[in-house]
Amino acid sequence: MMKNYESMDHFWMPFTANRAFKAAPRIIERAEGMWLYTDEGRKILDATAGLWCVNAGHGRKQIAEAIAAQALKLDYSSPFNLGHDIGFEFAERLVKHTPEHLNRVFFANSGSEAVESALKIALAYHNARGKSTKIRFIGREKAYHGVNFGGISVGGLTYNRKGFGPLLPVDHLPHTLDVERNAFSEGLPPFGIERAEALENLLQFHGPESVAAVIVEPVSGAGGVILPPVGYLKKLREICTRHDVLLIFDEVICGWGRLGASFGSVAFDVEPDMITSAKGITNGVVPCGAVFVRDEIYDTVVNSVPVGGVEFYHGYTYSAHPVACAAGLATLDIYESEGLLTRGAGEIGQYWQQALHSLKGQPGIVDVRNYGLIGAVQFAAADGAVVGPKIMQRCYELGMSVRAIGDAIALSPPLIIEKEHIDEIVDIFGKIVQEMFA
Ligand SMILES: Cc1ncc(COP(=O)(O)O)c(C=O)c1O
Repeated sequence: MMKNYESMDHFWMPFTANRAFKAAPRIIERAEGMWLYTDEGRKILDATAGLWCVNAGHGRKQIAEAIAAQALKLDYSSPFNLGHDIGFEFAERLVKHTPEHLNRVFFANSGSEAVESALKIALAYHNARGKSTKIRFIGREKAYHGVNFGGISVGGLTYNRKGFGPLLPVDHLPHTLDVERNAFSEGLPPFGIERAEALENLLQFHGPESVAAVIVEPVSGAGGVILPPVGYLKKLREICTRHDVLLIFDEVICGWGRLGASFGSVAFDVEPDMITSAKGITNGVVPCGAVFVRDEIYDTVVNSVPVGGVEFYHGYTYSAHPVACAAGLATLDIYESEGLLTRGAGEIGQYWQQALHSLKGQPGIVDVRNYGLIGAVQFAAADGAVVGPKIMQRCYELGMSVRAIGDAIALSPPLIIEKEHIDEIVDIFGKIVQEMFA
């Protein structure tokens, strides 16, 4: 294949072992439906929907056409002190899918920016109520909230935090991964609700008057697909409410059908004060992020200054970018008309669960986790050495793209997945297990 570049040296690739990659590149040339196609002409099953984002599958014409039409009509105009119809239209359409009281949308361009925006909205809210001592955040071990300074402060992945200097004032809840007690649970794990009680202890330790918000992913994605134990999220909600601490659900992965409902909040019937979103909001086609905010938070902040004054000194050049809004509206049309947001709660979600759990008992597999259309297969470290990256590489060679997180292989396929694709995923794992562990 002819290349339009001479060297790979100039692109500093994110979260990638640059030297190793450039010595043995894996180049994707095009994508369609469930499939990626490499520059060598190989077909790869996309078992992670890109980076947990291409929920309606690749190459959706409707989205591409909406983008093209919008770029020709209005490519850009400032979101500060000017508006465009499509921004208001997109916000109104989005909140038809959010929990009852979360009807205000603050737009960003990524999950990381959505998280920063949510943390700042929490501070603005407490300030507007004269509670300016509430400045601390509580995150959770193994959490991923993007890569900006607020996000890595509340995040709980060591490599992403260490070496980046003093961060925001935070503390962390214990994570909820408990393979010993919960291995091979189908759906939510039964054990671990007591880990929510740690929040009460942290609040007593720091004093609730110093804490602005708690942020958790309903299901931790990048930390290894870690599910909330039964009753855990409701308990967090109760404790936050009792202490006037905001609860933020980071649903950058969980949102838009991944858990068999529009949001994890809906799937688990727990309403937070804010939800952060990105990725599937535009099917991953154009960058876009958003914070869905409880009405009373918006009202409090906006009414805290005289009419005519800017209420919140925050925003991005590309907040509610017209092209992102067009992509998002076309994405919502597809989600709604094809019933994709609830597909994971139906027959295909059941099939997914059964298929993944059929791997139980295979050598080397120590846990399988699933909910909706997300899953993880956890392998035993071979002689103490991490095997995840090796398994990921072998999957790629056998025609499947997955994500290794330590020794867990994370799966989050496009929501258009059919039974034959699920069978193929399980077959490939079966082959690898025989090769590596039998
Ligand atoms: C829960 C969560 N929050 C935030 C982010 C960051 O999103 P982005 O990479 O779009 O900045 C991610 C990305 O995977 C995520 O999973």
